[in-house]
Amino acid sequence: MNLVGGKATLNPKIPSPEKELTYSSYLKIKELLSLQNPIATPEAHDELLFIIIHQVYELWFKLILFELKSLILSLGNNDLISSFHTFKRVSAIFKVLIQQLDVLETMTPTDFNKFRSNLNPASGFQSLQFRELEILSGASIEDYKKFAPLEPEWLPKLNQLQSHGSLSETFKNLLLKRKLIPQIDSDLIQKALLEIYQNPKHHDLQTLCEALMDYDEQLLLWRYRHVQMVERMIGMKRGTGGSLGVAYLSQTLSKRFFPELWEIRTHLSPGY
Ligand code: HEM
Repeated sequence: MNLVGGKATLNPKIPSPEKELTYSSYLKIKELLSLQNPIATPEAHDELLFIIIHQVYELWFKLILFELKSLILSLGNNDLISSFHTFKRVSAIFKVLIQQLDVLETMTPTDFNKFRSNLNPASGFQSLQFRELEILSGASIEDYKKFAPLEPEWLPKLNQLQSHGSLSETFKNLLLKRKLIPQIDSDLIQKALLEIYQNPKHHDLQTLCEALMDYDEQLLLWRYRHVQMVERMIGMKRGTGGSLGVAYLSQTLSKRFFPELWEIRTHLSPGY
């Protein structure tokens, strides 16, 4: 219906209400809001927060994976400008991911304990998207196949990932293409990185190296923040997934996807 000159007139171009795109039909709000289903009996007030925060993480992981795939493609095509744009976005998402743990920390350990036993044996361990993120960054798929029995959909997903390559592989291939290394070897990569950081003609690659460092560092910051929050919530208890909890998570803090970039810092001089 259109109001023209104060009179209501029928406009045949306006689609019927049931077909018209709306905020909620486009964003599937009804479906989205039906997906938070606490299971604790008796009801635990903070379980809704716990569910929502994990779901929000999974949504951001979905976007990061999407962006990582396009990052791998643009770097593979030597398109550094597009990749810088995507790095900026991924970095902004990571900042949100890290900060979001503040919201979870408004839950006290006693409130968490009201529903924690209901979660067994489910755990963040089983976040397939987090594993995909690690693999697309550069972790070996073989290391993750041991998790496959946890969820039947894992194995085909992990195998599918192999076709994308990883950020770390793509970066090394770029060094090959730019003839900075004759073959992929950690010592040769470090030598090439020292040259990149100290010779102004490689300014674009140095900017890329710093973007990769930001990426690696942010993933680490997430791990630190998560383990710190876990200690605050459960102390030294075992995880619901069966690991040693904080002791296990602390070991993951040594993970680096770009170890050579970290290594060369010790050997850098003032440069140009
Ligand atoms: C009260 C909140 C939380 C607690 C107490 C907690 C605890 C733990 C523990 C103990 C582990 C080790 C595996 C195990 O034995 O279960 C773990 C792993 C993990 N958690 Fe959490 N977590 C919490 C919240 C979150 C949130 C909000 C996320 C976001 C997605 C998350 C993602 C993960 C991931 C991805 C792993 C696997 C890490 C790895 O293996 O490197 N956790 N969590």
